[in-house]
Amino acid sequence: MSPSAISIAKSYSIASIPADGIGPEVVKAAIAVLKALSETLGTFDIEFKHYDWSSETYKKTGKYIPDGGLESLRKHDAILFGAVGAPDVPDHISLWGLRLAICQPFQQYANVRPTKVFRGTQSPLRNCKTGDLDWVIVRENSEGEYAGQGGRSHRGQAWETATEVAMFTRHAVERIMRFAFQTAQSRPRKLLTVVTKSNAQRNGMVLWDEVAAEVAEEFPDVTTDKMLVDAMTCRMVLKPESLDTIVATNLQADILSDLAAALAGSIGIAPTSNLDPSRQNPSMFEPIHGSAFDITGKGVANPVATFWTSSEMLAWLGEEDASKKLLDAVERVCEKGIVTADLGGVAKTEDVTNAVIEEIKESYGNTSK
Ligand code: NAI
Ligand code: MG
Repeated sequence: MSPSAISIAKSYSIASIPADGIGPEVVKAAIAVLKALSETLGTFDIEFKHYDWSSETYKKTGKYIPDGGLESLRKHDAILFGAVGAPDVPDHISLWGLRLAICQPFQQYANVRPTKVFRGTQSPLRNCKTGDLDWVIVRENSEGEYAGQGGRSHRGQAWETATEVAMFTRHAVERIMRFAFQTAQSRPRKLLTVVTKSNAQRNGMVLWDEVAAEVAEEFPDVTTDKMLVDAMTCRMVLKPESLDTIVATNLQADILSDLAAALAGSIGIAPTSNLDPSRQNPSMFEPIHGSAFDITGKGVANPVATFWTSSEMLAWLGEEDASKKLLDAVERVCEKGIVTADLGGVAKTEDVTNAVIEEIKESYGNTSK
């Protein structure tokens, strides 16, 4: 290998799927920030291929993902996703047509949702300061209540019946528990709270608890506790500092992570990663929020969730330093009070984006390459 080959920066190919509502606005902002970071640091290259898969595409063609679409996606190192959902398409069609149609075949079984109170922002909780709320929620992302098991019979009759069966397999519970324990182990407090509802749900959730206890034996340095999901909501509000890493089922973690986002200040800052820890398929990174029809096109969407998820994407790709630098720059911009209306500010999407780009250039512009 020639010496010059050694110094060539790593290059990443990212699939961008902005999709619906504010998705295109926040993904555009994140791409601008990621490109500025790559140019400024010079330690990695990043390229985006845009996929025009959205509810508009669905309305025109009857499909969210064209034939062969998943095969094209597979060629990328990661996927940056906006949000899917349109007022004139039922939500279960859009969600299963695009987002879950990627997560499930790509075995993105670990959904990771970090939350913290950013410097310069405020939690709606009285007395909750930066540092008190710093959690990672690990959500089982392949089965449970969203396994797609169920059906409807006798449509339109008074005795119409619908079932929605939650499915828990030892294989899937074990792999998410192992992932959650590893996540807890990698964080300073090494504390994992296992959320359950095994008092009322006496089959799947009991298996969940049993597997958690078995996997715990492999991680003697991780402290665990167990919470019923209803009591968990109280603990999140009343004792946020007592929590660190949290593992919960698909539905329960879906709800708890929206609560977490609100407690940290806004759903507009919360990121999510859909990971295939085996790395056989690309993982997908997105803001937690949806397509937010009420603010679409107004230029006021908070891009911070998509910046944070981009930072998580960089870490997953192995660019730990760039990941940290990006999140630090975003937090410094928040600290300066350049925040959108959901965080109590007056800045527009573009103002926050430009401020983050400026911050990156000013702080890291002289970094040796
Ligand atoms: P939503 O997250 O789109 O909006 C909830 C509220 O939060 C709205 O008032 C919205 O204006 C505000 N909000 C969301 N993101 C924001 C941001 N970045 N900056 C400032 N304010 C923000 O949730 P909603 O209204 O329940 O769903 C709307 C559509 O999005 C539905 O079609 C739903 O199915 C879809 N959805 C899609 C998701 C995805 O693609 N992963 C996740 C959640 C919802
Ligand atoms: Mg949700």
